[in-house]
Amino acid sequence: MTRPRVFVTRKIFREALDRISQAADMEVWPDDLPPSYDVLLRKARDADGILTMLTDKIDANLMEKSPRIRVISNMAVGHDNIDVAAATRRGIRVGYTPGVLTETTADLIFSLIMAAARRVVEADKYTRDGQWQTWGPMVLLGQDIHHATLGIIGLGRIGTEVARRARGFDMKILYYSRTRRTPGEETRLGLEYVDQMPVLLSRSDFISLHVPLIKETYHLIGAKEFAVMKPTAVFINASRGPVTDQRALYEALKSGKIFSAAIDVTETEPIPMDDPLLTLRNIIITPHIGSAGVLTRTKMSLMAADNLLAGLRGETPPNCVNP
Ligand code: DGY
Repeated sequence: MTRPRVFVTRKIFREALDRISQAADMEVWPDDLPPSYDVLLRKARDADGILTMLTDKIDANLMEKSPRIRVISNMAVGHDNIDVAAATRRGIRVGYTPGVLTETTADLIFSLIMAAARRVVEADKYTRDGQWQTWGPMVLLGQDIHHATLGIIGLGRIGTEVARRARGFDMKILYYSRTRRTPGEETRLGLEYVDQMPVLLSRSDFISLHVPLIKETYHLIGAKEFAVMKPTAVFINASRGPVTDQRALYEALKSGKIFSAAIDVTETEPIPMDDPLLTLRNIIITPHIGSAGVLTRTKMSLMAADNLLAGLRGETPPNCVNP
């Protein structure tokens, strides 16, 4: 029996690659940078399955030109890089990696909250630049985190874990989400539901986004939304860049409409080096590292491998976007 062929679009953990190569003929893209779209087209053409990253655009055209593909396994919980509707129409299963990265991502989000509120990155630069001349009563003043109000937009797995962490800081937690939690869950997590986003924005000291990127969430936060935030507000986005209108974020930070921001995602990734956001001192920008823990990335690789292998066997992947 011929072994299925798979293309893995980046080097991932050895354990995962070993698992795949036991069952399939595997080619792994060797570079640190993602394959171009043309390379993807070429590699996918003869593959039965592909293991992809969020940087790989897998659209209807690619699927049409890759008639053998049965499964696309994305090593991410987000799957906005894949045209899932087109995959479903073609009977291609799409795997993803929910759950395993939830807490690691929430940890990063909490570190962004703290770093942006207390100006940690700026303070480090201040020290290294030789500006630390004395203890100063007015130097590098930030915002308190404890007892402040956190507004969560989108209370899925990650939003919920951020809320759990916030309780340890005695924060008041508001949330605005498509689905309202049961009264029992709201009490257990100490949550207050707000049914209108502008109300949440105007009451919160910290605002954190936890929505997927879909048509409805594109530029969900723009000039109008920043306008109602407090001047002391700290804005956090570790979901997907295009959920925020980055130009409006720049204006809000520059004009002092809000206090600071920390983002792990940008509208274009990597952020172009001439992006005006990079000129501001009151924003922290990390390079999409929410899930970047050794254990978590190992688990994500293995989960993606298992999803791929199940799809190759003609089974529904254990974690499937379009079962
Ligand atoms: C995801 O999984 O969608 C994150 O953005 C990267 O881990």
